[in-house]
Amino acid sequence: MLELNVNENIRLRQLQVEDAPALFQLIHASRKSLRRFLPWVDYTTKEDDSLRFIELMQRKTDEEEAVAFGILYNDTLCGVVDLHDWDHALQKAEIGYWLAPAWQGKGIMLHSCKALIGYAFTALRLNKVEIRFVLQNDKSAQIPIKLGFTREGILRQSAKLHGHYVDMVVMGMLRPDWKY
Ligand SMILES: CC(C)(COP(=O)(O)OP(=O)(O)OC[C@H]1O[C@@H](n2cnc3c(N)ncnc32)[C@H](O)[C@@H]1OP(=O)(O)O)[C@@H](O)C(=O)NCCC(=O)NCCS
Repeated sequence: MLELNVNENIRLRQLQVEDAPALFQLIHASRKSLRRFLPWVDYTTKEDDSLRFIELMQRKTDEEEAVAFGILYNDTLCGVVDLHDWDHALQKAEIGYWLAPAWQGKGIMLHSCKALIGYAFTALRLNKVEIRFVLQNDKSAQIPIKLGFTREGILRQSAKLHGHYVDMVVMGMLRPDWKY
């Protein structure tokens, strides 16, 4: 099981099938806020959906396509950060993340992403990490901005949110530009 120590309070631990009940409860309790920018929240209606997500990510980890970590703050699951769309030819992957509202505003995601990016550039030997977010998602934008990513452009109408096309911002960091 992959595990990354972020600091004395935060640990990233690869999601396990045993996490399904806690993961589902967290999403269910946070659905009102999370669904604004995360379309999959509306399709997560029962514990089995979280279980299937964890199993899918485990299969993708076996295939070296993705890895999903539960974020543990003082040993309590409070969100997820993942690497996906791992392209071996380009040595590139994308980071996704969410935190339940009660744990937002503490720097947990900033520090978790910092640790994951370090892992991606060192252990996984990636050359590039990307973060994509809906143009209107100002909170999400702050993460790559604070981490020194470069804004690379806008993918117009490249996602659908509650029946409407939305524009996605792409920000990226290259390994030579990684300084922490
Ligand atoms: C995007 C998201 C993860 C950001 O969460 P967050 O808690 O704001 O992010 P951080 O962990 O970087 O915390 C930053 C905040 O903590 C504060 N903070 C407190 N202690 C801190 C510390 N030690 N270090 C850094 N920041 C700290 C910062 O000032 C900042 O507060 P502000 O938002 O009032 O400016 C969260 O809004 C979320 O889950 N949204 C819903 C899902 C979503 O949109 N996901 C992204 C899809 S692309």
